Amino acid sequence: MIDLSTRYLGLPLANPLVASASPLCESIDNIRAMEDAGAAAVVLHSLFEEQLDVESTHLDRYLAQGAESYAEALDYFPDLTGYNLGPDGYLEHLRRAKEAVGIPIIGSLNGVSAGGWIEFAKKIEQAGADALELNVYYIPTDPHLTGGQVEQIRRPRAKREA
Ligand SMILES: Cc1cc2nc3c(=O)[nH]c(=O)nc-3n(C[C@H](O)[C@H](O)[C@H](O)COP(=O)(O)O)c2cc1C
Repeated sequence: MIDLSTRYLGLPLANPLVASASPLCESIDNIRAMEDAGAAAVVLHSLFEEQLDVESTHLDRYLAQGAESYAEALDYFPDLTGYNLGPDGYLEHLRRAKEAVGIPIIGSLNGVSAGGWIEFAKKIEQAGADALELNVYYIPTDPHLTGGQVEQIRRPRAKREA
């Protein structure tokens, strides 16, 4: 058989097929099925930094407002209340995924603030992730902000409850 082994993020992989982040990874059975089907690694669905913040429902409401304005936009953003497991659930899910399969499990974090995601990135590492996918972006939801203002934003980390 042809040797398709490769390296990705320093990880030795049996082949270059890596399942990307999606709601399919919310089920351990699906992750097992991906391994059985030949996936060499799996990227878990993303945990959104907004889910760690008190203001998450606020952002979610604005995202939903735009996303439901026409049919094609419905899938732009996940429904933060229903899509994901929340911070603790995410870590537990990662631990269970690591126990269930032998392939590398890559965590995924969507960061918004300047460095606010770092704390949780460490927890993802401690939970056993082999690597971390990081998406950093700011989604402007205020229609009065100009493009220039958005580019100037260096969003401070949101305050968390103790
Ligand atoms: C329903 C759905 C949910 C997704 N959820 C995430 C996610 O949580 N995090 C992420 O980084 N990418 C997410 N993605 C993006 C995918 O991981 C992938 O990068 C994207 O679908 C491009 O691959 P494709 O061209 O094969 O669809 C999602 C995509 C879809 C369709």
